[in-house]
Amino acid sequence: MKAHEMREIFINYFSERGHKEIPSASLLPDNDPSVLFTTAGMHPLVPYLLGERHPQGKRLVNIQKCLRTDDIDEVGDEFHHTFFEMLGNWSLGDYFKKESIMMSYEFLTSVLGIHSNKLTVTVFGGYKEIPKDNEAYEYWKNVGLNDSQIFFGGMKENWWGPAGKTGPCGPDTEIFYDTGKEPCGLGCGPLCDCGRFVEIWNNVFMQYNKDNEGSFTILSRKNVDTGMSLERILAVYNHFSSNYETDLFEPILKRIEELTGVLRSEANIRGFRIIVDHMRAAAFVIGDPKKVAPSNTEQGYIVRRLIRRSIRYIKKMGMTNNILHEIVESIISIYSSVYPELITNKEYILEQIEKEYSMFINTLDRGIKKAEMFFNDISKGESLSGELAFKLYDTFGFPIELTEELAKEKGVKVDIEGFNIKYIQHQEKSRSGSDGKFKGGLADHSSRTTRLHTATHLLNAALRQVLGNDVYQRGSNITSERLRFDFSFERKLTDDELNKVSQIVNEAISKSIPVECQEMTVDEARLSGAIGIFDRKYEETVKVYSVEGYSKEICGGPHASNTNELGAFKILKEESSSAGVRRIKAVID
Ligand code: ALA
Repeated sequence: MKAHEMREIFINYFSERGHKEIPSASLLPDNDPSVLFTTAGMHPLVPYLLGERHPQGKRLVNIQKCLRTDDIDEVGDEFHHTFFEMLGNWSLGDYFKKESIMMSYEFLTSVLGIHSNKLTVTVFGGYKEIPKDNEAYEYWKNVGLNDSQIFFGGMKENWWGPAGKTGPCGPDTEIFYDTGKEPCGLGCGPLCDCGRFVEIWNNVFMQYNKDNEGSFTILSRKNVDTGMSLERILAVYNHFSSNYETDLFEPILKRIEELTGVLRSEANIRGFRIIVDHMRAAAFVIGDPKKVAPSNTEQGYIVRRLIRRSIRYIKKMGMTNNILHEIVESIISIYSSVYPELITNKEYILEQIEKEYSMFINTLDRGIKKAEMFFNDISKGESLSGELAFKLYDTFGFPIELTEELAKEKGVKVDIEGFNIKYIQHQEKSRSGSDGKFKGGLADHSSRTTRLHTATHLLNAALRQVLGNDVYQRGSNITSERLRFDFSFERKLTDDELNKVSQIVNEAISKSIPVECQEMTVDEARLSGAIGIFDRKYEETVKVYSVEGYSKEICGGPHASNTNELGAFKILKEESSSAGVRRIKAVID
């Protein structure tokens, strides 16, 4: 079966059962600064899961473009991806566990013809005051599964959500396909990760609300949220041993073989898969209706990492020519009938990828040589210093994750914390260096530069408030005279919009709000709603500067201590900076 048939069969099945089809939302979530990408079909539906009425009713179905960077290290195996398409159906206070389980089971067994004995499921086994999900267990028994096919998991395995810190969440039941591989040992089942059981579908029963104190209360309206990976169900249906054998990938892999003359083998298959997965994700993010260019921050940084890692794998496999263009053409031709934005933005995608290629290709070889020199001086198990990791980043454009990967291949580690310190110091240095006064050390930050830096945060927040949350910082440059701020936005701002932005910044200044700095982990920063670079590891500590009610941003500082130090804020100019990026110059009197 081909992907387009699977999409159609899925949508038809649920449409026939009263579900309205809704389009895929952008890969860049609206109104959610806590994540970079849409990671599940439920993400764009959060307001409706929280009780708002959906214009299409209580039963919905769709196919959502998703991107998860958490699984990036897994990519290269048979079943994991960064970008994927999620097939999902929802009940917003309509049907609940019984119908949801019945429909999933019927779809898999009657519609797709998967034999019931190939399925196993996991069900929530209870945690503290939250009871075991006996209902789900009973419904699975009722549809015909026997006890040996039903397993109970805990919070980690069978609880999903909330999407942010608080909100709807609940127990889930996950459906697995038994590949028939040898059991890994006694007790081998869907809860172990030996690879015999592939998770295909997750049905979440959103019956709880998690509040700020971390307690769970029962929701008056119960929702169902399900998600199934198109790539996986297609592979399972076709009895393929990996997602890459489906028509979503096979033509691209073939194209790489043609272009390079290198055939797939056990030794290089992981590299082939990484290239195809990463370039597919990059094409979708760059070509999203919200368009994202490779950069050093936020989504742009992820795109940069994906492309640079692909380039490295292409070289590693001994391919010397630039084949990114052809790979991306092949990806676009597979997807354009379903995702027309790839055609609309085709030129932009190809242009950005070419640009990134030329930027990186010349430094890659030299960087790898340098990295090898560094690694040779370190004994196995020891770490590359933050300073040298920063040198690879700064001089050769090596994302820190790439350096980590190279290091791992050599059996050494990288001092990530040391790297972050260097990174932040560098940002501070280039900021103050640009006003021509920098001689080294924080003391040289003129107070005006520091105040303009705080004004920049307020401007960033005000732009997002007026123009929407797709506005992201694309660059910042501060001199002692003025600030210059680049941000993603498609068109010229109207006078009215500019006035509103100025008003918000001046309002924050007039309210004499203290500028507070807190240290927390990246994960905590993200959950607290801070904007900024989320490209670090979750557990790393960062500084978050906030102006209560206005702005919260990950940043190295320094900042004014109160907004009343800033003086009247005035926008001097708003102009285009590059495609999809606007530039504002502003001063504080
Ligand atoms: N939101 C659920 C998931 O992503 C269905 O697994």
